[in-house]
Formats: sequence, structure tokens, C-alpha cells
Amino acid sequence: MDDLENKVAVITGAASGIGRGMAEAFVDAGMRVVLSDVEEATLHATTAALRDGGADVHAVVTDVSVAKDVASLAESTLEKYGAVHVLCNNAGVYAGSRPSWESTLDDWAWILGVNLMGVVHGIRAFLPVMIEQGEDAHIVNTASVAGLMTGGSLYGATKSAVVALSETVHLELVGGGFTPRISVLCPGLVDTNIFDSQRNRPARFPDVGPYPSGWSVEAAREAFKLGLSPRAVGDRVVEAMREERFYVLTHPEWAEHVTHRSTQIVGGDSPTLLPPPAG
Ligand SMILES: NC(=O)c1ccc[n+]([C@@H]2O[C@H](COP(=O)([O-])OP(=O)(O)OC[C@H]3O[C@@H](n4cnc5c(N)ncnc54)[C@H](O)[C@@H]3O)[C@@H](O)[C@H]2O)c1
Repeated sequence: MDDLENKVAVITGAASGIGRGMAEAFVDAGMRVVLSDVEEATLHATTAALRDGGADVHAVVTDVSVAKDVASLAESTLEKYGAVHVLCNNAGVYAGSRPSWESTLDDWAWILGVNLMGVVHGIRAFLPVMIEQGEDAHIVNTASVAGLMTGGSLYGATKSAVVALSETVHLELVGGGFTPRISVLCPGLVDTNIFDSQRNRPARFPDVGPYPSGWSVEAAREAFKLGLSPRAVGDRVVEAMREERFYVLTHPEWAEHVTHRSTQIVGGDSPTLLPPPAG
């Protein structure tokens, strides 16, 4: 999808972090952007900041774990702009829990609802519209490098599922001769607010499981400051859509870990962890 000028993009989890970085990059590429997020005040502040800079943007409060919210997001987009060309299924949360068997059912329901079902809801609500339009269109699912390598507990399980789902949809689109294309974004560390995901945990999931030993919001905040800037990730996504690149990796230093897993699988070895990349 080379010509982005005036095209309509929808981003979930757009109020903060990578979603906001994508919104900024899309606006700079001349696109009209629908920002959606469950965190209402931050969503409106981010949208206002972009609008003040001259962008054509629209905000829709959406909980991606609720199918009818995502269906309403699609309706609101079509009402506002009459078309949709790009969907970024980006909203995501981190729920610590280690060891895995001590994760609560509330932890599982929350993280699966946002990280996996959010993507499913986006694909179900938007892909039929994109196919029907018959124009160039692109979906970007935010997974993580954690979805390509060993480890990652609940979070890794949801992100592996997003990679698998994205690969399947790619094959279905290409095999069926459909116009839309899809990418899966697999970043390493990015300087966002994901360490504080509990801020958006719904009251209906009160039972919080254990976090890995030594983990704290404060320590995580410091660690995430060392990550890539969200805007750099947004620019990489623009490039990937123009190049029709499926796997979008932003942190080449993790490539060895991805290869390590594949080598262990085909070699019949049991999983082991490599140390994280230096730096
Ligand atoms: N930060 C990283 O290092 C990193 C690395 C790999 C992948 N990711 C993925 O990037 C995506 C964006 O996260 P981020 O790092 O920018 O974190 P972030 O917390 O800064 O942004 C996530 C946004 O999603 C929103 N959100 C949470 N629950 C939601 C829901 N139910 N419905 C709609 N919106 C919801 C939050 O309000 C927030 O604005 C996530 O899918 C995350 O798993 C992040």
C-alpha cells in the first residue's frame, strides 16, 4: 500500500505508547486517523494534541475486548470518513503472573480478552468492510518479539497466538485473491506505559496473580525508558505498509533468540532461554 495520502487509518490503544507513535507517523504521512482507546481522558488529550497540529483525527472510546465496542468503532469510522484503509489492532496489556499455574483466571480472562480477542474483534469488524471496498487496505496486528521466542508467560502466550492468527489471515487473503494485506508487528522493548497496564484493568477482574520476583512498576518504568521510541516504531510501520512486509521486527538484537527457538524445535531439544541481548 504505497499511496497513504488521505487514506483512513484506525488505531486501537492509540492514546499512549506505540499506538500514539503510529498515529503521529500516519498523520505525517497525510492520513486521516481514528484514535480509539479505553482510557478516555488520555485518548482525548492525544487526539487534541494531534488536531492542534493540524491533523484530521477522530476519537472513539473503545474497549477492544468487547465485540460490540469494536463493531461500533467500525460504524463510527465509516460514518465519519466513509471508508477504512488501515486497521492497527494494537491495544495490549501486560499481566505479570509467574509461575504460570499461579495466574488467576481473572488474569487470563483480562489479558486474553485484550491481547487476543481484541485482535479477533478488529479482524471480524473491519476485514469484511475492507474486502467489500475493493481498494488497497492493510491490517497491522501488534504482537511482540515475545510471540516469536521461548518464554513470556501469559503475555507470551497471547502474543504467540497473535502471530499465528496473523500468519493464517495472510495466507487466507493471498490464497483467496483478496486485496487487503496484513502485517504482524513484533517489537522488543519500547519506551511506553505498558508496565503500568493495571491502570486499565476492569473491576470485573479483581483477582490479581503474582508478578515475577523483583518486578515493580518503578523498576519497570526505568527499564522501559531504555526502549526504542514509539515514534520510531510508528515510522517502521509506515515503511512496512509501503513495502507490504509481513513480519515487522524493530529490534534486530533479538533475532538470535528467535533462531534459537527454531533450532531447538527441529533439533528435538527442550526449551532453554538465552540471556537477553546486551545493552
Ligand atoms: N512497550 C513494549 O516494549 C512493547 C513491546 C512489544 C509489544 N508491545 C505491544 O504494543 C502494544 C501497545 O502497548 P504499549 O507498549 O504502547 O503500551 P501503553 O500502555 O503505552 O499503550 C497501550 C494502550 O492500550 C490501551 N488499552 C488497554 N486496554 C485496552 C482495551 N481493553 N481496549 C482498548 N485500549 C486498551 C491503553 O489505555 C493504552 O493507551 C501492546 O499490544 C503491547 O503488548 C509493547
